[in-house]
Amino acid sequence: MRNDEHLQTLPHGSIVAVYGSGGRAREFLEHLAAHRPDVLIYCFLDSFCGGHFMERPVLTLDSWPEAQGACDLIVVASMYHPEIQKALLTKSISNFFVFEDGRILDPPPAGARYVSNFKRPGCLWNRKHWDRLILGYDDEAVFKEAITQVLPFTMVSQEGLVALCDIVRYCEELGIEGAFVECGVGQGGSSALMALMNLRYGTARRELHLFDSFQGLPELVEGKDDVSLMRRLLEMPDLPGTGRLVPAGVMAADQRYARQAVLEVAKYDAGHTHFHAGWFQETVPPIAGSLGAIALLRLDGDLYESTAVCLEHLYPHVVPGGFVYIDDWCLAGCRQACLDFFATLDRRPYLHVLDQCGRFWRKPEGSGQV
Ligand SMILES: C[S@@+](CC[C@H](N)C(=O)[O-])C[C@H]1O[C@@H](n2cnc3c(N)ncnc32)[C@H](O)[C@@H]1O
Repeated sequence: MRNDEHLQTLPHGSIVAVYGSGGRAREFLEHLAAHRPDVLIYCFLDSFCGGHFMERPVLTLDSWPEAQGACDLIVVASMYHPEIQKALLTKSISNFFVFEDGRILDPPPAGARYVSNFKRPGCLWNRKHWDRLILGYDDEAVFKEAITQVLPFTMVSQEGLVALCDIVRYCEELGIEGAFVECGVGQGGSSALMALMNLRYGTARRELHLFDSFQGLPELVEGKDDVSLMRRLLEMPDLPGTGRLVPAGVMAADQRYARQAVLEVAKYDAGHTHFHAGWFQETVPPIAGSLGAIALLRLDGDLYESTAVCLEHLYPHVVPGGFVYIDDWCLAGCRQACLDFFATLDRRPYLHVLDQCGRFWRKPEGSGQV
């Protein structure tokens, strides 16, 4: 093994908190400086002390939630790593690796998982200083507080999250009737944000319908999805493109995180929260007719078929004046599914640009399906 090979486990450009502020942490930083200059050290964590180490702040675990939104993962570089792993898992923090005997342990220890945040914007400054940015949009402080709460649970860009806040606020202020539906919940950050905004601006709780396999994406479909791009983005050269409804091994998010985000972080009413676990192709068509009116349909399924089935079965229930939010316009499969769907409507809707990937439109008033 080349002496830097173990460091390739760390995703390109990751922002890291190092747990430990002693000799082992120093050694880890020396390895990084020599072989992975793209990896940024945001802070150190230690169980007891504060202050600074190697010119970065040392935070205690209790103050970690404040930094969590700014970091992708933790590397535990301490001789006390078994105890630290336990402490992290007890606090439901599982995005960590362990550095021991001069290398990153691969596979990571039991309970640890790495969830790629590849869709987050690359602007480090924006991410690190998010709470201090003045962006000039309405209700900025309210939105920022809510977004900060959900950031650890979402892959969506901050621009996309701000737009989602704004859409929900508008739905509440105008009293647009109907449920909030998300297809592609992942770890639940966007769903929790819709819930938080309803709690902040709404006078009554909405039904929240949350669809996901909670096993990640199904297999892609060669010819419909851009399989080669996804292979590159996800660094998975063997990603299958044969379209079976089986886990492709990508973006699997445990339903527990989504529950935590919506029910514990946002503290939304469990009686109004409905998790629909399974493949959209199997869960959406049979239940679509009984969901009632939809005020906001948020589609985040990344793929052609995942988007198409939701548009076909759920769009008819979006009320005129209601919103459809497409998270993945930049992915060829999702975009084509939308374009194919638009071809079935009287006219193509005007798409508002949210960020490089997100789009939304409003279903025209006075229309049936248009
Ligand atoms: C990009 S993630 C969702 C991100 C999430 N909305 C957020 O705020 O970070 C895409 C999700 O779509 C789900 N998904 C994609 N296609 C699906 C399908 N056909 N059936 C069920 N779930 C699907 C995956 O399991 C994954 O959790």
